[in-house]
Amino acid sequence: MRRLWRIIKKEVSRLNAKSTIENDVATTATLLGKKAKAFATPAPLTEHGSAKVISIFNQKGGVGKTTTTINLGASLAELGRRVLLVDFDPQGGLSLGLGVNAHSLPLEQTVYYALMTPTANIDEIVLKTAVPGLDFLPANRDLGTAETTLGAEIGGQQYLKRALNSLRDYYDVILIDCQPTMGQLTINALVASDEVIVPMQCEYFALHGFIELKGNLDKVKNFLNPDLKLIGILATMYDKKTSHNRQVLERILEQFPEDVFETIIAKTIRFAETTVVGEPITSYASSSGGAASYRRLARELIAKGGAR
Ligand SMILES: Nc1ncnc2c1ncn2[C@@H]1O[C@H](COP(=O)(O)OP(=O)(O)OP(=O)(O)O)[C@@H](O)[C@H]1O
Ligand SMILES: [Mg+2]
Repeated sequence: MRRLWRIIKKEVSRLNAKSTIENDVATTATLLGKKAKAFATPAPLTEHGSAKVISIFNQKGGVGKTTTTINLGASLAELGRRVLLVDFDPQGGLSLGLGVNAHSLPLEQTVYYALMTPTANIDEIVLKTAVPGLDFLPANRDLGTAETTLGAEIGGQQYLKRALNSLRDYYDVILIDCQPTMGQLTINALVASDEVIVPMQCEYFALHGFIELKGNLDKVKNFLNPDLKLIGILATMYDKKTSHNRQVLERILEQFPEDVFETIIAKTIRFAETTVVGEPITSYASSSGGAASYRRLARELIAKGGAR
């Protein structure tokens, strides 16, 4: 009986252990018949601040932007980085994914207030999550009203940059979860950012959509933010059994070989479960392949110089 109990305890702790099993993670290298790189765990930072600001954007809806923001953020926090997530979608999906229904928050406690009020004390709007080092700015439908206001104001495209300015000294990484349209809010996110990550579901029109998106990023670069850099396309919801997923990804790799993260996020039902429980996959299902994938993405991003 005691022996059986010991075996059960051992198995539970194995399942709860953080998964770093590289076998769990699909990569573009494997797809191309090459050896996948090994991204070592980066050294902890000795000092914090000078945050890299990264927009997670694709104008196509439902491609894994919010899922990527939450789980990449949680994985960076596990590496000792101070991470701030910005919910910049009036749907409030990121807030909900972290267990907060922001639609019941007063306007003064949301990112909308921070955006529109230069004197707002933004530290008071930031919420903590259960993951040490992972904070976020919540959003609700009030943010949608900023879309027209921002377009009409002089300097309206710089408002998010202004709001985040004081936070850059404290955090190492700020990830902005964009809404799936190229409106004034997204322009604000791109103007405030150093880099963009483009989550992409490898389906037939994805390539066409990406070329349009790249044109928009170029316009933002040319007119508003010359330093903006596409740090990587991230293949999400990838099903290796689906031949068209593979074909589309191969086409993307052919056309943009330098622009695609080696880490691939496979399709798994576990991500839908995380939204229900309101926490990242790295804590909800720490030993899952999904958690291992986002941890690998965090290490790859740091190795690429995309985050400190
Ligand atoms: N790798 C994955 N495998 C399976 N399901 C996933 C995966 N990633 C995300 N999902 C699910 O797909 C749905 C859309 O994901 P998510 O909300 O992250 O996309 P989004 O791009 O932010 O959407 P929107 O454009 O509406 O903001 C969610 O139900 C999410 O749980
Ligand atoms: Mg979203």
